[in-house]
Formats: sequence, structure tokens, C-alpha cells
Amino acid sequence: MRDLVVTSALPYANGSIHLGHLVEYLMTDFFVRFQKMRGGRRVLYFCADDTHGAPIMIRARNEGITPEALVARYHAEHTADFASFGVAFDDYHSTNSPENRAVAEEIYLSLKRNGNIVSREIEQTWCPKDAMFLPDRFVRGVCPKCGADDQYGDSCDKCGAHYEPTSLKEPRCALCGTAPERKSSRHLFFRVADYETALRAYMETDALQPEVKNFMATWLKDGLKEWDISRDGPYFGFRIPEEEEEKYFYVWLDAPIGYLGTAKHWAEARGQTLDSLWRNESVDIHHFIGKDITYFHTLFWIPTLTGSNYRLPARIHVHGFLTVNGEKMSKSKGTFINARDYLAHLEPEYLRYYYATKIRNSVDDVDLSLDDFLHRVNAELVNKIANLGSRTIGMLNKLDNRLGRVAAAEGAMLDEMMAAGEEIALHFDACDFNLGVQRIARLTDMANEFIDAAKPWGLKDNPDRLREVLTAGINAFRLITLYLKPVIPAFAAKVEAILKIGPLAWNDHRSLLTDHDIGPFVRLADRIEQKQLDALMEAARKAGEETPTTATPKKAEPSTPEIEFDDFAKVDLRTATVKTAARIEKADKLLHLTIDVGGEERSLVAGVAQHYTPEEMVGKTIVIVANLKPRKLRGVTSQGMLLAVNDGTTLKLVTPEANMPSGIRVS
Ligand code: MSP
Ligand code: ZN
Repeated sequence: MRDLVVTSALPYANGSIHLGHLVEYLMTDFFVRFQKMRGGRRVLYFCADDTHGAPIMIRARNEGITPEALVARYHAEHTADFASFGVAFDDYHSTNSPENRAVAEEIYLSLKRNGNIVSREIEQTWCPKDAMFLPDRFVRGVCPKCGADDQYGDSCDKCGAHYEPTSLKEPRCALCGTAPERKSSRHLFFRVADYETALRAYMETDALQPEVKNFMATWLKDGLKEWDISRDGPYFGFRIPEEEEEKYFYVWLDAPIGYLGTAKHWAEARGQTLDSLWRNESVDIHHFIGKDITYFHTLFWIPTLTGSNYRLPARIHVHGFLTVNGEKMSKSKGTFINARDYLAHLEPEYLRYYYATKIRNSVDDVDLSLDDFLHRVNAELVNKIANLGSRTIGMLNKLDNRLGRVAAAEGAMLDEMMAAGEEIALHFDACDFNLGVQRIARLTDMANEFIDAAKPWGLKDNPDRLREVLTAGINAFRLITLYLKPVIPAFAAKVEAILKIGPLAWNDHRSLLTDHDIGPFVRLADRIEQKQLDALMEAARKAGEETPTTATPKKAEPSTPEIEFDDFAKVDLRTATVKTAARIEKADKLLHLTIDVGGEERSLVAGVAQHYTPEEMVGKTIVIVANLKPRKLRGVTSQGMLLAVNDGTTLKLVTPEANMPSGIRVS
């Protein structure tokens, strides 16, 4: 069997994981755990945070932190949440990594060498105050169709119309409210149409679900447009190599490349290469994605990989969206539930079980009905499955913990249960988890009916027969646990410990556990109470009130912690006069100043060269931090730091209102 590399889409590094995301990560995790349990091949599960782009840059700026700090915070949160839900990645990396930069540059340069990259000037919305090009979502105004106010640059929430940002009425910058201008800039485009043949050939393979092939056929009929893969600075992302001007890769170029970046990170940590995973005929690549990002993973991704000579995905599994109680998740209804809020009220394995009963290989939406969730977990997982274990193991604990042999009478039932493993494996392999779990539910009913009929509680006087019945019942429970292990691994681990057996592998369904001592029963699952669900929805509603429902970027207060007066008093601020000023070679932002601080001459390096000429600086009275530890910048010692106000566009020196002598304390 061929090795497997499996990926889930990379979550954005500026939002928390919610139950919608978990449809994907849990579904992928079921698949990966099943494949690993089957053994016989190497299986690797990769994911990462999707860190680049304007929204993340702007969010960080609004919080008064660097994008790197924002991304680090979400990396910690995401990895903790995934671990709590049992999502077991082999590597969870970041698109803002040296590995990803290396692969992104390599791939881009091969496309460029192939002649697939063209460049031309385009006009875009520009905010003169923020000195940046505005992404569509950051232009707000009046909808040209229905007149609703405060709508996005590309679409209207009220009437659903889609339009060009230029047709929006009374447009303004969502960051500062300024009326944006049009400004032109040179952009780089990937001529995707160069790979139309490869795309059409890919559609003929069995990599895609039929619905997805249909989407693709429609898109291809509309014609393949050139894809704009560059953005102007300021932008949080990778600089495009071989470009004089400051151009960055558009986030959607380096995001899927993040799958390879993560594989490279994993491989190189083990003395292996990316090529051994992504340019290797004996490795199959499977992507799991939501239907909203199909376009990126087909029309753009297949040409990108083809043009850079990497292997194409053997499968792209596209799933639908999560609805809660039949509707889109809603903050005000308390149905927009974050992973963290869920974990505060309920067991992660309940969601894993419930999702498995619903998820199949389809782009149809998946509904989480909270009533149905409570009912099914209680009726199936607790009352049928866990209870089968509890009553059989409990009785054997009372006898002597010894499993005996399987009698001929129960042989047929167990044969059927063992044989069902092949069928369940087919369902899991096809990502039809709902069908697999349905089959397991029927086996559980069969086992419970057997116990009800055999009435072991009435066999106290016949310990030999009692042992036979319990041995059959516990073996049925072991098989059910084995089949459910990809879905509820923590439950399975508890059962393995009780039964005193090693980790169950898929092939263990071909044998039975006989003449074996087991340990004492421990509680496996508790019922869900309605009040737990009520509390969860209340928490979700509260969380929804705290965060704005629209994606309107708001200027938040910078999150610097309060300090004591004593902390402030440690800073020695003083006036100084500039004596000489000179540019520093190869440092276009820095000036080297000599200053006078109350008769003492000092050397100071200041990052003002793009705003003041050396001539303008000489003679100015400035304010410096006088007791800052000296440090070297570009080989020049700086004994202090000058104060300036910088709003990102303009920079102005902080100076006393009237001319003052140097060396005076500022407070
Ligand atoms: N960063 C991009 C993906 C880049 S992949 C190279 C992105 N991130 S996301 O955080 O918005 O979504 C991550 C995955 O979760 C996507 O596959 C998306 O379809 C899925 N889901 C996000 N919300 C979802 C639901 N409400 N329901 C089901 N899946 C959802 O897209
Ligand atoms: Zn602005």
C-alpha cells in the first residue's frame, strides 16, 4: 500500500476554532486515525496556521502588537484546542516559517521560468491616510443596489448583491473613515490558463467528488482568468523575489504551499527531504477542505503544483458547512460555538461521536441539532455502547475477572461482528463515517439483545455458562470499541486499560480475546444533561456579544499593561540639541547625530532619515531617553533614543514648545 500524506485546510491565525471548523478537523482525524490503525503504510497528518494577509496585519495594528505576536498567540490557542479535541497532527506548523518561504519562492520562480507570470498596472482603492491599498472588505459604503449603509466593498449583507468596489456609493476606509482614492500599481499575475490541459486531465481522475467536478466544469466554461498573486506593502507576507519594488505574495499563494512547508519542516527535522514526500510516486496526498475554498484548491492549486513539478493530490475531499439547529451559526442565537466554550461544558468525545454519525463523503451541509445531539449521545453512546461494557465487565469483575472461551452458541454472532470489520473499513476509507457508525450501532443492538436473552444475572448457579456469556459479551464490546476507536480514541484507551490489552489495531478484529484476565471497570461515559447545553448556549451568546457581529475593523486601544509611577520615573527624559547629522551607509532609514546633553557630547542613531534631511536636523532641540543602555546600530554606537510621533505615514520630532537649553529633565 502507498504511503499517505493527509492535510486539513489551514485555519486563519486571527480567529478561534469553532464547531464549524471542527467538522473538518475531526473528519480528517477520523480518517487519519483509521488509516494509522490499519497499519502497513506510513500515514502523516499535516496542518498549520494561515498567517499572512491584510486582515491579520490590520488586526495586529489595532491591538498595538506585531503580526508575529498575534500569530503566536493564535498558534498556542489553536494547538491547545486541537489537542483537547484529540485531533492528532504529525506536524502543526505555520505559513510564516522559513520552510514555507523557501517552498513559496521555489514554486513561484519555477512558474516564472516557465513563462506563466505576467505583470501589468491595475487601479485599486487606496487610503491616503493609512497609506495602503485597501482590501475589498476594508472599504465600506452605501450599497449601489438597495441603498443600505455600511456595506462591504464587494457585497451587500442586506440584499446580497455583488459589485465592484468602485460602484460602492460614498465609499470610505473602514480603518479611518477617509474617502479612498484610486491609485495604480504594477501587479504580478499567474496565467492559470497555461495549465488548462492539466486541469481538464485532473477532472478525469477519481480525485474529486462528482459535485466538485461539476463546479469545475462550470468554472472552466467561464474561462480561466489570470490570477493576481501580488500585493503592495505594507503587507504581512513574503517579499516576492527578483522584484525591485516591494511586492508581496498574496496570502492565497503561500497558504496551500503551507501544506508543503509543513511537510518540509517535518521531513527535515528527521533528516529527510520534502521531495521524499511530495515528489515520490509511492506517496498519495489527500486534502480535506470546506466547499467554500474549492476554487483555490482546484483552479489555482492544480496549475501551481503542475507548473512546479510537485505531485497532484490523489484526493480532494470537499465537505459542506456546519449548520446548528438547521440554520447558519448565529452569535445572537448562541449557536456560534467556539471550541473553548464547548470544552468548558461538555466532553470532546461526544462531539466526535455525533459528528461521525452525520459526516459522509459529500459537499452537503452537516447539521448539529442540539436536541438530537443530546438524544443520540445519551441513547447510543451512553445507554447502548458504554452500558454494554459496564454490565458485562461489571459482572465478570464480580466473578473472577477471567475471560474463558467462546461457546459455539455465541460463535455465529461473533463471526458476524468480526466480518463486519471489512464493511466498516470500506465506509471509513470512503469517508462515509455515518454509514460506518450505523453499522456499528446495529452490531451494538445485536450484542445487547444477546445479553438480554442470555440473562447472565440469572446464571449465578452456573459459573461456567456465566463465564461463556460474559466472554462473548465482552468480546462483542471489544470489537465495537475497536471499530469506534478512530472516532472516540480516549474512550477506546480506557477500554484497552480495563481489558489489559495493548493498543487495538484494525486487524485485531479478526481475532477474539479468550483465556485472559481483565481489570476493574471504570466509568466510560456520563449522560449529557439539558442544563449543560443551556449553559453552553448562554456562554456562546455572551461571547457573541463581546465580539462585533460584522467584520468591521475597529480601532482598539493598544493593549499595553498599566505601570506604576515608579516605573515611569525610571525613564530619564532630557532635552538635547543636535550638533551634527549624517546619513549612514546602506541604512536608508537612519541618521547618525551628535548631540549635546547639558554639556555632554553624545552619539545617537535615529530612524528619521525618511522624514528629515541631515540639514533639517542640525540645531533642533529634541527629547531623548538619556539613560537607555547604549547599543550599536549598523556599527554606530547610540547613547540614547530620540522621541518622535509616527502614525505610519508621517513622523514628527517631539520638541519643547519654546526653545530650551539642553540637558533639562522632561517629565
Ligand atoms: N485559511 C483558509 C484556508 C487555507 S487552506 C490552504 C481558510 N481558513 S478558515 O479558518 O476560514 O477555514 C478553515 C477550514 O474550515 C476551511 O476548510 C473551511 O471550509 C472550514 N470551515 C470554516 N467554517 C466552517 C463551517 N462553519 N462549517 C464547516 N467547515 C467550515 O479558509
Ligand atoms: Zn484609512
